[in-house]
Amino acid sequence: MNRLLFATNNQHKVDEIQNAIGRSIEVISLRQAGIDIDIPEPHDTLEANASEKSATIYRLTGMNCFSEDTGLEVAALQGEPGVHSARYAGEGRSFGKNIEKLLHNLEGCRDRRARFRTVISLILEGKEYLFEGICEGSILDKPAGDKGFGYDPVFVPFGAGRSFAEMTLAEKASYSHRRKAADQLVAFLRSQSTHQPLQS
Ligand code: IMP
Repeated sequence: MNRLLFATNNQHKVDEIQNAIGRSIEVISLRQAGIDIDIPEPHDTLEANASEKSATIYRLTGMNCFSEDTGLEVAALQGEPGVHSARYAGEGRSFGKNIEKLLHNLEGCRDRRARFRTVISLILEGKEYLFEGICEGSILDKPAGDKGFGYDPVFVPFGAGRSFAEMTLAEKASYSHRRKAADQLVAFLRSQSTHQPLQS
């Protein structure tokens, strides 16, 4: 089976992307590849952070690889937390504290519109390709559901009527920003695989 290294240790992300890609390519995380590294996300755009992560892993391993960076962009907060979503409540990456801060900043605010945006950076045979996926929705007044990760308990995609954290992986995939970006990645990989083999 062909393998593709995913520059993350977030197993939720690996599962979501593996589901999109199917069984023809095995997605492996940094941990599964025996790579112990915490890649910085110092830039002010999702694109630059995703590029930094894939470039770092490519330099280290020489393997075909991809990374992704995701942000929650809230209309009433002028797009914040955006690229700062992971550390919104400070260093420490606590999902609970990030949600608390978000709900606090939106207290009394009737405009709850928000969107998730994912950028994937793929490095294939040394060349970079970028893919984007967006999911529009809104922020709840309080968390609902215990599945998923991150801001899932407070995010309701348009038309869904319930939060990402109340959905199975398959349901979340039918709306997900990450799935939309991954679908483009998959289409691109399929178009390439007839011309050149992936890392095995
Ligand atoms: P990063 O891409 O891992 O830097 O994620 C940025 C922040 O957004 C983190 O706090 C994640 O937990 C959160 N996040 C990323 N993707 C999702 C998602 O699909 N649902 C909910 N939160 C997410």
